[in-house]
Formats: sequence, C-alpha cells, structure tokens
Amino acid sequence: MSLQLLSDFSLLAHNTFGFDARARYAMHIDSVDAAVATATDARIANMPQLVLGGGSNIVLTRDFDGVALIVGIRGKRVIGEDGDAWLVEAGAGENWHDFVAWTLAQGMPGLENLALIPGTVGAAPIQNIGAYALEMGERFERLNAVELTTGAQVAFDRAACAFGYRDSFFKRAGRGRFMITSVVFRLPKAWTPRADYADVARALDGAAKPDAQAIFDAVVAVRRAKLPDWKVLGNAGSFFKNPVVSAQAFEALKAREPGVVSYPQADGQVKLAAGWLIDQCGWKGRGIGGAAVHDRQALVLVNHGGATGAQVLELAEAIRRDVLARFDVELEMEPVTL
Ligand code: EPU
Repeated sequence: MSLQLLSDFSLLAHNTFGFDARARYAMHIDSVDAAVATATDARIANMPQLVLGGGSNIVLTRDFDGVALIVGIRGKRVIGEDGDAWLVEAGAGENWHDFVAWTLAQGMPGLENLALIPGTVGAAPIQNIGAYALEMGERFERLNAVELTTGAQVAFDRAACAFGYRDSFFKRAGRGRFMITSVVFRLPKAWTPRADYADVARALDGAAKPDAQAIFDAVVAVRRAKLPDWKVLGNAGSFFKNPVVSAQAFEALKAREPGVVSYPQADGQVKLAAGWLIDQCGWKGRGIGGAAVHDRQALVLVNHGGATGAQVLELAEAIRRDVLARFDVELEMEPVTL
C-alpha cells in the first residue's frame, strides 16, 4: 500500500482553536490497512508522529517537525447484540455528534447526553469525553488500535483503557503510541433517562418521561446557549479539569467562600466547578491578545482571531496563578499541548 506524503501541511483546518501551525509532513489515514502500513513506511519511520482526529482537544504552540497522521477511517455499523445491549462500532474518523445522532436513528439510545461534543469517535476514549452526568466509558465495550512502531493490531477492553475523569491510558503510559482505528459501544436495551443535571432538566421543562431524543435535543440546546461553536469562535471546550479536593480541604474552603460550587464524589472527595473559581477571579470575558476567557462560560478559553497557542497558555497560566492565590486550588489543563 502506498500512502501519499504531503509536505509543509497547514494544521489550521485540523485544530478547533484555529491556530495556524504547520506540520513538516502529513498523511491521511483512511483505512486500517493504511494505519498498519504507516508503521513500516520507511519515509516516516524515524520521524516524530502526531495522530490527529478532529483536533478538538489540542493546543498547538508551534510548528510540528514531523508527520501528522490524520485519521479519517469511516464506517458505522451494528455488530451484534445480547440480552442486555446492542453493540455498535464506528470508525475512528467518524464525527462524534453525527455518530450519536445515528445511534438514536437506529433506535439505540444511550449516548444522547454526549450530543454535540466536537471531535471524532477515535478521540472520544482518549480523554473519556463526558457531559451532563454521563461519561463515554460507561457505554464503552472495546476499541481497536494500531501500535505505531510495530503495526501490530491491538484490542483494548475497558479495563485496559483505565478510564478516569477526562483521563485514560492513552493520555498517560499509552500517549503517542497508538492510533485508534475504531471504537465499539455497548448501548443498553433497558435504557433509563439521565436528566437530572440542572441545565438539562431546565431545558426539558418538566417533561415527565423524556425519551432519548428529547434529552438529545435538550443537551444540544444547553450546549448551544453556553458553549461557543468552534467554527465561529475557536476553542477546545473546557480548558481545565474540575479540580477534586479532599473533604477536609473543601470544608476549609467553604468556610472562607460559602458560595463555592461543588459536587460530592462517591469516595468522599469533592469536585469543584473550575468555571466558578475562574469567574470569581474576574476573568470572564478578559484575555491576553486574541486569547480570552469565554464570556458565557469561564472554563472555556477562546481564540478571538489571531491568537497563538503560546498566548492561550500564557492566559491559562495567569488564571492558574489567580485561582491558586485566592482559593489555594491547583487547576490542571484538560487539552494536550504540542
Ligand atoms: N460556573 C460559573 N461561572 C462560569 C461557569 C460555570 O459560576 O463562568 C458555575 C455555575 O454554577 C455552574 C457550574 O459552575 O452551574 C458548572 O458549570 P457547567 O454546568 O457549565 O459545567 P462545567 O463544570 O463548567 C463540565 C464539563 C463540560 C460539560 C459540563 C456539563 C469539565 C472539565 N467540563 O463543565 O465538558 O459539558 O460539565 O456536564 O468537566 C469539556 O470537557 O470540554 C466540556 C465542555
């Protein structure tokens, strides 16, 4: 199989922040065979490699002196069922939101809370995307990947993916080592709505028994109202994780800041709304150059045009410093940086 190697490739259309970085080379990977072939391709064997899906969770701070592997593997199909669930598989290059809509059109609910999340199916497991009280890991069955150095095809089950809050094996020990080619989801036949999240409940306006389509529509409406569309205003979704602190640290903070927005966790720790912390520090709508804090959701950093990745990181650092100084809480970045 011969793969086309493109030179001096603009990544502008391949990152949702809209940074104008370039890759020395790029390859479009449209099949599993092509993914395997990259591993034995002598032209790129010793080069740094960057696997890109929709580029919706990356901050490009510089040009990339290597080869960008742009995953476009398509295909959506129902591959089986058992008494409890349907199994559906999608190619890593499928658009996530279109895939969610397709599962509902098949009459297979379960992913509706994750409507409108930017990016591709293959990127979803890397940070274990989540929204409105559902994480992708809960609906995950397995994924197929190719090891970049050997071309070996490897399947990962849920345990091997080590999913956490916006976290997985692929952000840690597995970082940069694999190209995910497809993901299999387990969609429950005994579906129950998950519509308690305040914004979603409000959008459903008291509907007694919302079906999956109603939740999908409510989530789309909430996201459209709060979160900027990257096609209009470049961004990578939440820029920081919501920090998790000990019960003791939370009590001390609450005594000083009674308004703090928090979510108790099953293990006794407490998750804090980073958007609230940043908002309280007065950052909403403010920025550095073209990089700014979104004026409707302080957890989202945006590119008003002409910002660089370095400016976004500079802004993020200023925010981190302020939040640490006022609340004694460390914010951790959510997207990956190049
Ligand atoms: N808040 C403010 N000011 C702000 C933003 C938020 O006071 O500017 C407070 C409000 O009290 C609000 C609370 O923070 O009720 C939480 O805000 P929101 O419901 O918008 O959710 P979030 O915690 O900021 C998380 C996820 C989002 C996900 C939403 C809904 C993380 C890092 N982010 O945001 O995920 O859509 O919950 O479940 O966990 C993403 O990861 O890219 C992402 C967008």
